[in-house]
Amino acid sequence: MSCDYIALANMGVQGLMPYQAGKPIEELQRELGLEHIVKLASNENPLGPSKKVLAAIEKSFADITRYPDSNGFELKQALANRLQVLPSQITLGNGSNDVLELVARSYLQKGKSAIFSEQAFIVYPLVTQACGARSIVTRSKNWHHDLNAMADAIEDDTAVVFVANPNNPTGCAIGEAELVDFLDKVPANVLVVLDEAYIEYTENGNFPDGISLLTHYPNLIVTRTFSKAWGLAALRVGYAVASEQITDILNRVRQPFNVNSLAIAAATAVLDDEDYLQRSREVNYSGMQQLEDGFKQLGLSYIPSFGNFIAVDFERDVTDIYQVLLREGIIVRPIGVYGMPNHLRISIGLESENKALLAALSRVL
Ligand SMILES: Cc1ncc(COP(=O)(O)O)c(C=O)c1O
Repeated sequence: MSCDYIALANMGVQGLMPYQAGKPIEELQRELGLEHIVKLASNENPLGPSKKVLAAIEKSFADITRYPDSNGFELKQALANRLQVLPSQITLGNGSNDVLELVARSYLQKGKSAIFSEQAFIVYPLVTQACGARSIVTRSKNWHHDLNAMADAIEDDTAVVFVANPNNPTGCAIGEAELVDFLDKVPANVLVVLDEAYIEYTENGNFPDGISLLTHYPNLIVTRTFSKAWGLAALRVGYAVASEQITDILNRVRQPFNVNSLAIAAATAVLDDEDYLQRSREVNYSGMQQLEDGFKQLGLSYIPSFGNFIAVDFERDVTDIYQVLLREGIIVRPIGVYGMPNHLRISIGLESENKALLAALSRVL
């Protein structure tokens, strides 16, 4: 006896399209038998891990028979010191993806709505739909979030607004005055999730620091990650900083051991490695320049980006270009799922990787 187990699933989950990750290096190696692959598809840190991280992980190996510290005391303490907030304002997550989900599970359900922009990070619609809530998608303006439209879109049932700064996959960023103006318009009973996954790359610019806005806006939740500039994508550590009340709620729904002990040790250690962060920024900055120059020479336009990636416009469907690059051993990211079928999102790599990409592109074009 059997029945339709798809139809049995929660309504929101039935129609869910699983998140499509960048193609793994090993998969392309298996398919093509190539030894050397350049992966510029998942906005990862091309530097390799910090030495302090490797040492911290090695030290933690002996304890893997034990459950991790459920409260992540050491890491929260280190984050609280760095960000000048209370440990009781921090929620740790299995990547910041996890904390985005915790917000949705805590505050969204059938009868509620969440607002996000076109071309905003795809996890916002996924977590909204999974909770059975309604998505309100606002039009973007020249690839940017239109914050006025987002504020105007708030309805009686709106519980959460997701704002990415900078956004993935467009790389567009929001300035301080614009963000503050938006936050002033949002009623206190509507939560604003300010996703700052790439904030460390913007530190030299005139960018709002979401954490410093928390005291003025108790409905604000700032999410950040160790996956990008800190170079720990595989370990999965991210966090939310918010009021103590919101943090209390998020911690009620998270799994008790959602961040493993190697990840906690690694993240705590890397916070102490300012040199690594600086090198991450430098490699990103010079790689971005290298790619922008190369795209200009190839006559390709791109969306100026404040992240560790850049969306390039090929002015035609990119499916075949993506495939040819794969055959050359280069993985990039098609972003048709974001309504951008003519763009490829390319993560910033090491100088040699960027060079290989540009050479392959000049052959392809
Ligand atoms: C805007 C944005 N937010 C959140 C995430 C989630 O990253 P993680 O779960 O690795 O912290 C990503 C990942 O690419 C992202 O681009």
